[in-house]
Amino acid sequence: EIKACIFDLDGVVVDTAKYHYLAWKRLAQELGFEFTEQHNERLKGVSRMRSLEILLEVGGLSFPLDEMERMAAKKNAWYVEYIERMTPDEILPGAKELLEELRANGIKVSLGSASKNSPLILERIGLKNHFDAVIDGNSVTVAKPAPDIFLVAAKSLGVNPEFCVVFEDAEAGIEAAINAGMRTVGIGNPQILNRADVVVPNLKGFTYSKLIELFLKK
Ligand code: BG6
Ligand code: MG
Repeated sequence: EIKACIFDLDGVVVDTAKYHYLAWKRLAQELGFEFTEQHNERLKGVSRMRSLEILLEVGGLSFPLDEMERMAAKKNAWYVEYIERMTPDEILPGAKELLEELRANGIKVSLGSASKNSPLILERIGLKNHFDAVIDGNSVTVAKPAPDIFLVAAKSLGVNPEFCVVFEDAEAGIEAAINAGMRTVGIGNPQILNRADVVVPNLKGFTYSKLIELFLKK
């Protein structure tokens, strides 16, 4: 039985990876090295400070913690400039329809994102009122693949983890959901998301009945 669905934000509901990339690339440029799109893949689903650690590793640099905090804040200010200009057109295909259909069928819906910027993004894309709970990097700081974000989401919906399905585009996110004892739908590359129960390219055409059908058999 499925009683709740938990959605990651970046890469599932919106494609913000491109904005994260532009901001990280700018920081790398300031520090004097190139940061490629391929490097950026490693930052998906990972917290802001962990992302910075990976970036500095790519550049072969290291800094004391206070310097790193200053750099992360700078990157975030640039990132916020991009997401402040987001519009509802940037919602990924099928996401809004699925959220609405799930709730119409009595399924509870939560956000489960590592991002501290999720309230701003939800506001800009007009999905603030589409979730029964919003659990993100502001409420839970323990990063995926730890299960904390998803467990807190389930708890605030009042649903046991076994009745939850998580929608995730990142490997660390699928791990986190498995660690939480939840079912998983991977969004993207089946090779990367090979631990997910099922993988789809995107949410286009993903319906309530498809969800029920998929997890009835499991
Ligand atoms: C995740 C993204 O959703 O949020 C990561 O996939 C990002 O790339 C992380 O680093 C933290 O986001 P923010 O907005 O708090 O810097
Ligand atoms: Mg993601």
